[in-house]
Amino acid sequence: MKKYVVAVVGATGAVGEEMLRVLEEVNFPISKLVALASSNSAGSFVEFMGEEYIVFELTEKSFKEHGIQIALFSAGGSISAKYAPFAVEAGAVVIDNTSHFRMIPEIPLVVPEVNSYDIDLWRNKGIIANPNCSTIQMVQALNPLDKKYDIERIDVSTYQATSGAGRKAMEELVFQLQDFFNFKLDESPHKVFPHQIAFNVIPQIDKFMPSQYTKEEEKMVFESQKIMGKKFEVSATCVRVPVLRGHSENITVTFKNKVDANEAREILRNSPNIIVIDEITESNYPMPVLTLEKNETFVGRIRRDLYRENVLHLWVVADNLRVGAATNAVRIAQKWIEKN
Ligand code: A2P
Repeated sequence: MKKYVVAVVGATGAVGEEMLRVLEEVNFPISKLVALASSNSAGSFVEFMGEEYIVFELTEKSFKEHGIQIALFSAGGSISAKYAPFAVEAGAVVIDNTSHFRMIPEIPLVVPEVNSYDIDLWRNKGIIANPNCSTIQMVQALNPLDKKYDIERIDVSTYQATSGAGRKAMEELVFQLQDFFNFKLDESPHKVFPHQIAFNVIPQIDKFMPSQYTKEEEKMVFESQKIMGKKFEVSATCVRVPVLRGHSENITVTFKNKVDANEAREILRNSPNIIVIDEITESNYPMPVLTLEKNETFVGRIRRDLYRENVLHLWVVADNLRVGAATNAVRIAQKWIEKN
C-alpha cells in the first residue's frame, strides 16, 4: 500500500493533538509525519506511534522542504489563509479544519458519511474543507432521516464544550474552577470567553452578525445546506457550557412527510458511525462523558412531537475534538486516498 508524507499544522493544539491520535488509531499509511506549529513550540516534541517527533516552525517553505503530500490544517483561519496556498503549490492536498475556505463554492465541504462524492472537487483548489464541529454531528444524524422523510426545517440549540475554542479555553474553565475552590473566582480572569464560563452558560459563540445570529449559528445554517446539497430552513442557537469535551445538541426537525419515532430510531441504528442510546426507562441517553475519545455520533431522546406528526425531536452528542474535527479530517483523507 502506498504511504504518504503527512503534515499536521497546529500539531500542538487541542485538535492537532487529536489528529495525531486518530491517525495512529486508524493506522494511516504514513511514510513520514511532520509536526508543524508556531515558533513558540518549535523544538518541542509531540508523540506519535510511541515515538517523539520534533515540532518544526511553520513557514512558507515547510511543505516543499518536507515533501508534504497530505496537509491537515488546524491552526486557525488566518494561518490556513496564509499557508494553505503554499501547501497546494508544493503539491499537497490540504484538509482544512478552519472556517476560512468552507463557503467558497469551488471548495468541497465534506462529511464523508453524507457527501464523500464531493471530495472529487478537491482538484479545483487543492483544498477540502472540514466543517464546523456542531454541523458535522448534526448532519450525520439528520442526513439518513432526510433521505426517508425530507427535511423542511431544523431548529437546533447546542451545548458546546470549551475545547471547541482550543486549549486555552479549556484551561480558562479549569483555572476558574480552581479559583472557585480558593475563594478567588471573582478575581479569575476571562480572556477567551466573553464572560465567566465556570458555573455559567453563555449564549454566544463567536461574534454577532448583522442577522443578529452569531457567526457559529450562521455556520450551522449555511454549512449544513452546502454539505447536504439542499435548501431547508435552519435556526440555530449556540451556547457555551462548562464542559471540557463533547458537544450536545437538542434538535427539532420538521419534515415534509409524517415521521415515526420507532422507524427513525431504526434508520439511525443502521446509519454509518451513529450509535443510538435511547432506553429512557433506564435513564440511558447520550451525554458528553459517554462520548469521550469516541469516533461515533450518539443519538437519543428520539420522540415525535406531541402535536405535529411531521416533527421529530432528538438529542445528539459527539466528541467535538474527534467527530467534530480530527476524525472527520482523517476520514476525508482516507476517502481521498481511496479515490486517488
Ligand atoms: P503553538 O502551540 O506553537 O502556539 P488551539 O486551537 O488548541 O489553541 O491550538 C492552536 C494550534 O495552532 C497550536 O498548535 C498552535 O501552535 C498553532 N498555531 C498558532 N499560531 C500559529 C502560527 N502562527 N503558525 C503555526 N501554528 C500556529
